[in-house]
Amino acid sequence: MATERKIKIITAKTSVNIAVIKYWGKEDEKLIIPINDSISGTLDSDDMCTITTVATDSSFTKDQMWLNGEEVDILSNSRLTKCLTELRAKCQDDSMANQKIRIASVNDFPTAAGLASSAAGYAALVYALGHLFGITNKSVLSVYARMGSGSAIRSLDGGFVHWIKGTGTSDTSIAKQIVTHSHWSEMRVLILVVNDAKKETGSTDGMKRSVETSSLLPIRASNVVPERISAMTKAILEKDFNSFAEITMKDSNQFHAIVQDTYPPIRYMNEISWNIITFVHGINSFYGKNVAAYTFDAGPNACIYLLQDALEYFLPLILKYFPFSDYNSQCIRGHSVPESLSTILTSSGQVNLNTQQLRELDHYLLTKISFQVQPVNSLRYIIATKIGKGAEIDSTRSLLDAQGNPIVLK
Ligand code: PMV
Repeated sequence: MATERKIKIITAKTSVNIAVIKYWGKEDEKLIIPINDSISGTLDSDDMCTITTVATDSSFTKDQMWLNGEEVDILSNSRLTKCLTELRAKCQDDSMANQKIRIASVNDFPTAAGLASSAAGYAALVYALGHLFGITNKSVLSVYARMGSGSAIRSLDGGFVHWIKGTGTSDTSIAKQIVTHSHWSEMRVLILVVNDAKKETGSTDGMKRSVETSSLLPIRASNVVPERISAMTKAILEKDFNSFAEITMKDSNQFHAIVQDTYPPIRYMNEISWNIITFVHGINSFYGKNVAAYTFDAGPNACIYLLQDALEYFLPLILKYFPFSDYNSQCIRGHSVPESLSTILTSSGQVNLNTQQLRELDHYLLTKISFQVQPVNSLRYIIATKIGKGAEIDSTRSLLDAQGNPIVLK
């Protein structure tokens, strides 16, 4: 009698996270234990998503992986191998732990944008593998996500997430959710993808060099971050945007001061990034409080946290001062673009500042800040998104067919 094949297939998805208190520097390079705690918001996977399907079957003869449709060599990636080996060791079902695995993963946002895709990638992978092996607790899984990419630890949970540095052992360096995505439902995130082709120093090399040479980094870790973590947690719990924004901007600025204090120095932001900083402070000074907050990771792209109401004036002004040569549907992507924005773009592709408030803000930026319209296409595009739910099983999709072969995506 033929035995029934028992191929097991699981698909998980999650999104990138954007830190408001940055992780920069490892205390333990091997275990990926950070030098300080960090906090981030996980973005909505409806707008920016990594999907990963894993499958296991007794007929598979080797571990295999496909990334964005291309087969990659698992063995050449030591972090990936480590994640897989350690998770397998936790699997209670011996026969499954001994079987080979197939993995297929895609990002539905351009990897070239330099947007922490590895964080989402490892979080989705670990979540899918965990479910395959019977480990579903996110705090437990967060330890394995960290082994792939440090910041991946914060993409398992949704909402705002705290990565606790721990007490020096691997099992104490875990992620804890502060609030779910629905706690601060008005929160919006704009990613301003800056046109820049330059190759940056990768985060692994960059943070190693900062730990070795920056004399500011230990002071940040011991004297600045602990207070900021408490103040940020409070601001998030109380939905105090003014404080949230101030800490976010100061922490981004300090991170970039540290990379400059690294020897030889590292520069991630460019002139457009700096002009975005001036623009945000200009808008905040018009209102006499923080209505938007910028933060920059290891690259020139800006991530702007702001509340839904502020989008109504922030986006049109961004479109005016950071103009596109062609205002089409590709300029602003994502589901969180306000309906009213469509009235701001005229059919001839002009930005129409059609309210009193917008005209006053525009006048203020021009006269008080002397803010100049930036060169056309300084931004490649904008993603308008919000805070998301974190890693989830997605039973509606699969990147591997019933035999475990990769499905060619159209
Ligand atoms: O996880 P990594 O190695 O890609 O490092 C991420 C570092 C920053 O994005 C700059 C900060 C952070 O906390 O995400």
